[in-house]
Amino acid sequence: MYQSSIYSPGFAAFLSHRQNHLHTFHHMSKSVNVAIIGAGVVGSAFLNQLKNLKSAIKFNVVYLARSSKEAIFSNDYQPVDLANYKTANAKPLLSVDDLVKFLKESKKPSILIDNTSNSSIAEAYPRFVEAGISIATPNKKAFSSELSLWNAIFKASEAPSGGLVYHESTVGAGLPIIGPLRDLVATGDKVETIEGIFSGTLSYIFNEFSTTEASDVKFSDVVKVAKDLGYTEPDPRDDLNGLDVARKVTILARISGFNVESPTSFPVESLIPKQLESVESSDEFMQTLPEFDGVIQKVKDAALAENKVLRFVGKVDFKNNKVSVEIGKYGFDHPFASLKGSDNVVAFKTERYPNPLIIQGAGAGAEVTAHGVLADALKIAERIA
Ligand SMILES: NC(=O)c1ccc[n+]([C@@H]2O[C@H](COP(=O)([O-])OP(=O)(O)OC[C@H]3O[C@@H](n4cnc5c(N)ncnc54)[C@H](OP(=O)(O)O)[C@@H]3O)[C@@H](O)[C@H]2O)c1
Repeated sequence: MYQSSIYSPGFAAFLSHRQNHLHTFHHMSKSVNVAIIGAGVVGSAFLNQLKNLKSAIKFNVVYLARSSKEAIFSNDYQPVDLANYKTANAKPLLSVDDLVKFLKESKKPSILIDNTSNSSIAEAYPRFVEAGISIATPNKKAFSSELSLWNAIFKASEAPSGGLVYHESTVGAGLPIIGPLRDLVATGDKVETIEGIFSGTLSYIFNEFSTTEASDVKFSDVVKVAKDLGYTEPDPRDDLNGLDVARKVTILARISGFNVESPTSFPVESLIPKQLESVESSDEFMQTLPEFDGVIQKVKDAALAENKVLRFVGKVDFKNNKVSVEIGKYGFDHPFASLKGSDNVVAFKTERYPNPLIIQGAGAGAEVTAHGVLADALKIAERIA
């Protein structure tokens, strides 16, 4: 009987073979090329998380647009040093066409990370995806504008050579909302209703304004505090007009099979008094808002008389073929009534989940948003590397 010993020539040969094998393996270690656009609030948190990422797949950052003016890249795809990107030599941005060409010619699977809110980049997604480049992004624009853009992106993605498209952080920041909803739909569940609080700013404003105890907190005062805390857009009307919520509802409705034409194609209740819509400056708006406190106070008092609070919600109702964004009333024992701070919450009522599936947590912030984008990039890399 032949017995192998560690001293036997057979074992030495085995070791040498194994080392060769490992050597080859090392050369074959998986990697993807990554092009990143934007290094603002979310972008810089993303770059920091990526710098510290421990992953079996190597992420070569071959292009980094650190602002709307300049980018760091080299024609031979040398990885950008993420520890020094702020001071590295930069060049003018590549155009969309040149960036697509640059990534395509690298011959490696590539991911575009769009950490901007830019609509022209969003409109170019079909071109990236058709070229086989995958996308991970928190930018809502591409998914919540005209239905034709949504269709172009996912049609390109479904083609055999199309890139993958992941956008978890476009709704509820890093909260797991889009992934689980897509899983439910893909496996044959039927969505009946989607209801949620999708704006961190409006969550905060209503959680403070409308509580389970009677209070004389004024709506305009809460808006002012939210603005001073930096929770609102520079002009709070950009939150109060409900459009951001409408965009998020559009995305969830489309994923669950509702062909919403655009975020302005369904009723959206604005919290801006009609008379103040055309006021020029945000300062003037803030000064005049107190004059309208009485109107919303009455609505709040009427709700409280029914043991209910007010919340600003987005809804998709399949049975009634209805999508809306509006002020809703919720009983004190409803999960939306006990929401804290600027948290988001979404309730999916489906055939399989007649008691709604509820997902709740921080719906804004650099770290949670960036984690959602990076987790998407990892999922893509696992499929394409
Ligand atoms: N912040 C959050 O909590 C949060 C939560 C969920 C989703 N999001 C989404 O995440 C995205 C980024 O948000 P943010 O808060 O990080 O915004 P931000 O701080 O304004 O950063 C945007 C960055 O994109 C850059 N940029 C814009 N257009 C560009 C272009 N054409 N080419 C290259 N760079 C360009 C900007 O550069 P310049 O400075 O030169 O203009 C800036 O660095 C948005 O889509 C937002 O809706 C954010």
